[in-house]
Amino acid sequence: MVINYSELNDTKKYKLMSQTIIPRPIAWIVTQQNKIINIAPFSYFAPLSSNPPLVVVSIGHKDDDTPKDTRANILETKKATICFAKIEDLEKLILSSNELPKDMSEAYEFSINTVTITEDYPPIIAGSQTALFCEFHSFIDIQSETLPLILEIKSQYVQEDLCDEKLNIKIDNICRIGKGFGKVESIEF
Ligand SMILES: Cc1cc2nc3c(=O)[nH]c(=O)nc-3n(C[C@H](O)[C@H](O)[C@H](O)COP(=O)(O)O)c2cc1C
Repeated sequence: MVINYSELNDTKKYKLMSQTIIPRPIAWIVTQQNKIINIAPFSYFAPLSSNPPLVVVSIGHKDDDTPKDTRANILETKKATICFAKIEDLEKLILSSNELPKDMSEAYEFSINTVTITEDYPPIIAGSQTALFCEFHSFIDIQSETLPLILEIKSQYVQEDLCDEKLNIKIDNICRIGKGFGKVESIEF
C-alpha cells in the first residue's frame, strides 16, 4: 500500500510520521522569561551537525494560535536548556506538556524542581543526567505554523559519575516509540 501524503489532512500526516520515524529523542526544554521557568517536551527534535554543534526543534502554536511559550521564549531570550528524561520522569514530562498561559510556570504548577548550573542559561530539571545549554542560531521558514528552530550547543552538563575522562557518557534517556515511550540503552563504542 502506498499512502499519498497529498491526500492526507495534517492530523493523519502527523499520525503516520510520528509512529514511523521512531525512536525519536525527546528534548525536555527549559526556558526562562521574567523569572518564569517554562518546561515542555518536544520530539520533533534532532541533531543537525557537530561542527558547528547544532540541533533543530520544531515548535508550533497553542490552541489560541499564538506561538507556544518555549518558542516565544527562545526567540525573545535566545537561550534554552535541553534536558533528557529518564523513565522515572515520565509522569512529570507528560504533565509539563499541558498548555499553560505564558505567565504560569510548569515548574511551579507541577512541582518540577530545577537547579541552576550556570547563571547564563535557564536551570536544568533536577536529577537530569545531562543537559545542553543552547543559544538560538536561526530558524527555517517552512511557510507553516510550525517553526523549526536551530539551536547551537554552547556547553553541556553531565552528572559527574556518568562521564569518564575520554568523554564516554552513560545515560538512560527515554524516547518516543510511536504512541508510547521507551528506554534508550547506552552503548559503548
Ligand atoms: C512527548 C511529547 C512530544 C512533543 N513534541 C512536540 C513537538 O515536537 N513540537 C510541538 O510543537 N509540540 C510538541 N509537544 C507538545 C508540547 O509539549 C505542548 O504543546 C506544550 O504545552 C508546549 O508548552 P509551551 O507552550 O510551554 O512551550 C509534545 C508533547 C509530548 C508529550
